[in-house]
Amino acid sequence: MPKSLISIQDFTKEEILHILDVAEEFEKNKSQTFLSDKVIACIFFEPSTRTRLSFETASNRLGARVIGFSDAANTSVRKGESLKDTIKMVSNYADLIVMRHPIEGSARYASEVASVPVINAGDGANQHPTQTLLDLYTIRQTQGRLDKIDINMVGDLKYGRTVHSLLQAMSHFSPTFTFTSPQELMMPKEYKEFLDEKGIPYKETSDLTQHLDTTDILYMTRIQQERFTDPMEYDKVKNVYSLNSSMLANVKPNMKILHPLPRLQEIAEDVDDTPHAYYFKQAENGMYVRMAIISYLLGKR
Ligand code: CP
Repeated sequence: MPKSLISIQDFTKEEILHILDVAEEFEKNKSQTFLSDKVIACIFFEPSTRTRLSFETASNRLGARVIGFSDAANTSVRKGESLKDTIKMVSNYADLIVMRHPIEGSARYASEVASVPVINAGDGANQHPTQTLLDLYTIRQTQGRLDKIDINMVGDLKYGRTVHSLLQAMSHFSPTFTFTSPQELMMPKEYKEFLDEKGIPYKETSDLTQHLDTTDILYMTRIQQERFTDPMEYDKVKNVYSLNSSMLANVKPNMKILHPLPRLQEIAEDVDDTPHAYYFKQAENGMYVRMAIISYLLGKR
């Protein structure tokens, strides 16, 4: 079976650092067309702006051609074709598959039936490993290191797949975590047990103002409306946090605010003009990191 990226735990610490180093090369030289004989399939069963477009741009900048769909309603899935058959077909057309799907575990399943590498571009509330690699790249870019970072994860820690992948990846680098969430959306038990096993400290709070002064990276997340089964439960928590510039008076000078985006009201627009806002550059970094991931999985870097 070819090497895929389904969970961030599929990559060793050395592989993670290798991807970040290669991404740095791509940031310096944005177009290197050594994949001109390759076809990349981007198949998205769930909405996306950044992940799909940055994968497509990354593929184009590497010289590859792109096929795929952004809405499964326009495919034979609508006629009842199974995920297995869809993946087997796309494997015959493309050299690598990038897939986003709403069902947890779907990406792992796809990698087991595909004859080409599969990249998980998000599977339900489970994992978003390429987001994690671009998050790590951005943390290193802003802090000059990955070791001993104080990272405060805020918002929907239950359904937010980006925080789950990032927590696991940061465990290589002796972090300290603060988990800021409403009671209903706390970090799931299995991730806290994972940290306990590794002896990594974490604090939990529902008060966004509580630990801001010690934070290096403030990782804001959106409340994931699409994962709630009860709309009333979503209404209770949807506006729970709203970071504005007046709340940043006592933060560390180099504290950076990241967000996987899209944002709703959890970061007010007046934060965008502060030196702490880094989420748009973070999204740009996704392109370089995805160039590195594609090249690595195709054996070219
Ligand atoms: N960060 C992220 O996954 O954004 P999209 O949903 O727009 O791809």
